[in-house]
Amino acid sequence: MRAAVVTRFDESPRFADFPLPSELAPGEEIVNVVAAGLHPRVRSQADGSHYTSREELPLVPGIDGVARTADGELRYFILPDTNLGSMAEQTIIDRRRSVVLPPGADPIQIAAAMNPAMSSWVALRRRIDFRPGQKVMILGATGNAGRLAVQVAKHLGAGKIIAVGRGADRLDGLGADSTVSLDGDGQSLAAALGDEGKDVDVVLDYLWGTPTRDALYAIVPRRANDDQVLSWVQIGSVAGVESAIPSAALRATKLQLIGSGQGSVSTSDIVTELGALAAAVSTDAFSIRARAVPLHNVQDAWGQATQTTERLVLTV
Ligand SMILES: NC(=O)c1ccc[n+]([C@@H]2O[C@H](COP(=O)([O-])OP(=O)(O)OC[C@H]3O[C@@H](n4cnc5c(N)ncnc54)[C@H](OP(=O)(O)O)[C@@H]3O)[C@@H](O)[C@H]2O)c1
Repeated sequence: MRAAVVTRFDESPRFADFPLPSELAPGEEIVNVVAAGLHPRVRSQADGSHYTSREELPLVPGIDGVARTADGELRYFILPDTNLGSMAEQTIIDRRRSVVLPPGADPIQIAAAMNPAMSSWVALRRRIDFRPGQKVMILGATGNAGRLAVQVAKHLGAGKIIAVGRGADRLDGLGADSTVSLDGDGQSLAAALGDEGKDVDVVLDYLWGTPTRDALYAIVPRRANDDQVLSWVQIGSVAGVESAIPSAALRATKLQLIGSGQGSVSTSDIVTELGALAAAVSTDAFSIRARAVPLHNVQDAWGQATQTTERLVLTV
């Protein structure tokens, strides 16, 4: 069987032979992969930097995808931590971690959108007590997960959505009710945010690092209502793995600092959400800019992924 194979954490995966295991655990089956998304999470799996990394090589990267089962069903699946990921001609799935896709579902869109869309979907549905009508701020709205967070928050009934991100021009057209550019320093962020944060209920944070610190300094002193909870959900860390959280922020307002991701959301909670999310992606409720690349070009794809804002999807 051919697959994208990582033999060193400091090199891109190569298209090479990789053996299927000779024995399957109960509930497991071999499937033919159709499409697998090249998400940031997959890059960090392949370079060994993800917090779940067991540093075992060789490995086939890929945490999810779309596959055809032996009985002909098209399924979206998520994988456990494994050395045989989804970037392969075949992989091993457990049906309990998968859903049958609705007729007409586009495997490329599904493989591209499910992981980034899931980040805000489970944050709002499983990590906090989100209620329709609440005001949501998305910190880091220009990436694929942030763009989808705007669509997901709207779909789940947010009353107002504020998109914050780098590049004022790129914030337009995301579908948010208002936008705030991150270009500049902390003072310019505070000026640009103005009163936008005074009654925000939820922040979906894809950035962390300095922007999170600056946003807290800008938002907390302007909170209007002492009783209003501010749920700050840490989802991504593209701007830094650490952030200097002002201590007063935790005393001065009802700040709930919480994370959402693999581990803090249980696998059973994620699996429960797969069907509704796949249906929403399939009916075009959410869209993502996706580009298919044949699996045998995986090395090129690894280079291209850093040069494009499209979500690359390896196809078999
Ligand atoms: N916890 C979860 O369940 C979960 C699920 C999916 C994703 N994530 C995480 O969410 C994050 C975003 O994922 P993604 O799929 O959206 O990635 P992506 O499509 O590659 O987008 C990343 C975005 O981050 C922006 N960015 C990078 N550095 C920045 C900085 N210093 N300040 C402001 N913006 C910055 C980039 O903006 P420019 O275009 O300006 O460079 C780009 O728009 C990643 O950390 C990913 O691991 C978490």
